[in-house]
Amino acid sequence: MWPRSRWMCLLVAGAVTVTLFTLVYGPYRPRDPRNQPTFKSPFDGSERSLPLIHFMTAPRVSAKDKTGDLCSVRQRVERDGYLKQYFNFSVPVLQWAGSFNQSEWQRLHNFIPPYGWGGLPYRVVMNTLRLLAGTSSGRLFESSGQCVSCAVVGNGGILRGSKQGKAIDSHQFVFRVNGAVTKGFEEDVGNKTSFYGFTTNTMKNSLQAYHVDGFTAVPQNPSIKYIFIPSHLRDYEMLAAAIQGTAVSTGADKGDWPSKYFGNKRTVKKMKMLHPDFITYVTMRFLRSSILDTSFRDLYMPSTGALMLLTALHTCDKVSAFGFITRNYNVFSDHYFDSEMKPLFFFANHDMVMESRLWELLHFHEVLWLYQRM
Ligand SMILES: *[C@@H]1O[C@H](CO)[C@@H](O)[C@H](O)[C@H]1NC(C)=O
Ligand SMILES: *[C@@H]1O[C@H](CO)[C@@H](O)[C@H](O)[C@H]1NC(C)=O
Ligand SMILES: *[C@@H]1O[C@H](CO)[C@@H](O)[C@H](O)[C@H]1NC(C)=O
Repeated sequence: MWPRSRWMCLLVAGAVTVTLFTLVYGPYRPRDPRNQPTFKSPFDGSERSLPLIHFMTAPRVSAKDKTGDLCSVRQRVERDGYLKQYFNFSVPVLQWAGSFNQSEWQRLHNFIPPYGWGGLPYRVVMNTLRLLAGTSSGRLFESSGQCVSCAVVGNGGILRGSKQGKAIDSHQFVFRVNGAVTKGFEEDVGNKTSFYGFTTNTMKNSLQAYHVDGFTAVPQNPSIKYIFIPSHLRDYEMLAAAIQGTAVSTGADKGDWPSKYFGNKRTVKKMKMLHPDFITYVTMRFLRSSILDTSFRDLYMPSTGALMLLTALHTCDKVSAFGFITRNYNVFSDHYFDSEMKPLFFFANHDMVMESRLWELLHFHEVLWLYQRM
């Protein structure tokens, strides 16, 4: 084991890196607050009508309430007196052309991304969403009316040596996020990718940080769909350029070609973007971390994996979660692709303990199936 002081150094170095990334790429904030409207936070307290979901106080599900092999997240939630209060399947998951109009602008420009359009130029939001025309842009996939099974694959070290590849690929849709290397890890994580979820920031950081581990390109295939998380102006700019087949014209990614990441076969149908209302709802109802009550509140948001898992829970009929944080996370490395054991560190940008409790709770309530091992 390393001496304590070296771990502390690593921790401090990590914290500095995260802070720097956040300063450069963090939530978009106006430069001069005097010339800007004041942004409201959706977390100011008025929303606290429901107590926080809490692992210890949530009622246990008794055997008689277990529903067996019912293939519908919605029906399972509907039969669960406790979780029913938290889920709302009417909240739009994706934003598209139909999400933009004057009254929505008036409402959402009060909140900074990812919870709204605050601080973003009107023209950029309007133009980007207009490109997502056609009702298919408002849906993740066309429902077949059958039991749609989805695997959401996090990048946790729990998957290394797990031999879950076949189980993952047997789902109709497979969601992956950020540094989703599959080449060389097929036996453990499979090779199918139907959805890739990211923010421009996390995608680019992953390409840099995990290049040595084999993440040299964003997954591409003829049927893959990309799910943009609108955490920043960058995500709107990148999405618009991706659909238009141009380089990004302004901002942090100016001159960057989306085709580098998503391939040349640009089509509107490949591009999806989460709705700010969905991110607000997920944060308020499921992951309202106490970090939001501290001065780190602007750094905090649910992790990419958490957003994708909740997206799957609101769109698929049956959901399995692989590579997500579990209670015994400290016996595994940070990622399945780490060449040597790297402990998982917690930073103020996510609340991984809260996320692990949530997955465990949803697993016990049989709303999802969580891959766990000793
Ligand atoms: C569910 O979400 C919809 C759309 O945001 C909202 O109109 C409705 O009031 C919500 N219902 C509950 C019970 O929170
Ligand atoms: C604006 O868009 C929202 C969301 O699609 C919709 O509910 C609302 O009716 C629209 N309002 C107008 C005035 O068109
Ligand atoms: C994934 O692996 C299977 C066999 O395990 C193979 O038949 C298939 O072609 C692979 N798919 C891709 C996209 O690599």
